[in-house]
Amino acid sequence: MRALILTGGLGTRLRPLTANLPKPVLPVVNRPFLEHQIGDLRRQGVREVLLATGYKPEAFGRALGDGRRLGVKLRCVHETKPLGTGGAVRNAIDFFKGTTLVLNGDVLQHLDLGAFLKRHRSLKAEATICLTRVADPTQFGLVELEPSGLVRRFLEKPSPEEVTCDTINAGAYLFEPSVVRLIPPGVAYSLERGLFPELLKRKRRMAAWVSRGYWLDIGTVEKYLQAHLDGLGGEWPLPLKGLRRRGSFLLGSGATLGAGAAHEGPGRVVLGAGAKVAAARFSGSVCLGPRTRVDAGAALTDCVVLERSHVGKDARLERCVVGRDCRVGAGALVGPGRALGDGSILTAFSR
Ligand code: GDD
Ligand code: MG
Repeated sequence: MRALILTGGLGTRLRPLTANLPKPVLPVVNRPFLEHQIGDLRRQGVREVLLATGYKPEAFGRALGDGRRLGVKLRCVHETKPLGTGGAVRNAIDFFKGTTLVLNGDVLQHLDLGAFLKRHRSLKAEATICLTRVADPTQFGLVELEPSGLVRRFLEKPSPEEVTCDTINAGAYLFEPSVVRLIPPGVAYSLERGLFPELLKRKRRMAAWVSRGYWLDIGTVEKYLQAHLDGLGGEWPLPLKGLRRRGSFLLGSGATLGAGAAHEGPGRVVLGAGAKVAAARFSGSVCLGPRTRVDAGAALTDCVVLERSHVGKDARLERCVVGRDCRVGAGALVGPGRALGDGSILTAFSR
């Protein structure tokens, strides 16, 4: 089976973390985000992946190579100007040989591909949308269903008054080549605001399937942090290959954990390759990137520190994300919801 992944967005809601890296390759528990998504697909038989790139295309090759390491054949099709989600699919029309999986490139989910395909085939649909249930659908595409399993209505980013159900577009689709041909070529076009309403208007068979697996759109700082907390907390299966266990600490190659470093559960602490941790205190789930340093007396709670950053003596990090190559000075405090861009320097005792 083949999968097209939409990876051209600018990741504006994840700035400053996406200033240098596009969202689909930002590290999630020290691996490029797409590695998790592609790994899940690979285990279910997907062997060929095409990325529809736009923003910072060179980062994809650097992070994922030609896919061999992940067990898939990986290629990119690049848009010199953003074509939107629908235009990106139309641009890749030659990739659609039969039923093809299309995915948003920022969703961490376990997709039961067999069940998804079964629904698509049993309803003889031209397009099938994977749905998930959320408490607040206003940030997503709302999908109303007929009792038959066909889609009644698709409404992107509904206002609170327009919310009629809790099922939303999970950002995964099965498409027949015939629906891709309905998208106008060479222009910016949206799947959500263009193709899906158009299919309904033309009474083409569009089905839906509600997934019960783990699901998270990592598109905001809060959700990006949540992806880490959930992985370290066991909500989704973290690849543990190459990590040594020491109590609730997981150490990458060459990482060192000083005597006196302590962790208060629940959750786990990951040290990326070559990370150095002195007698610091951790609580909840913490992810330290490769070659990070944490000095004695620092206190880290539910946070992410990306590669090569340094957390000084007695500094405190709480529910925040520190970008790459940052310096958090001794005694400084970074509070909940904060994100430091790559290369940030916080002088001692900054708050
Ligand atoms: N190639 C390409 N070109 N990709 C694009 C473009 C483009 O012009 N615009 C966006 N993308 C990619 C993004 O990189 C992302 O992976 C995906 O398309 C979805 O874009 P987002 O900007 O993340 O959309 P959203 O999160 O607001 O909403 C979408 O996802 C929700 C689920 O997370 C919609 O599909 C909603 O209906 C859905 O509920
Ligand atoms: Mg998104």
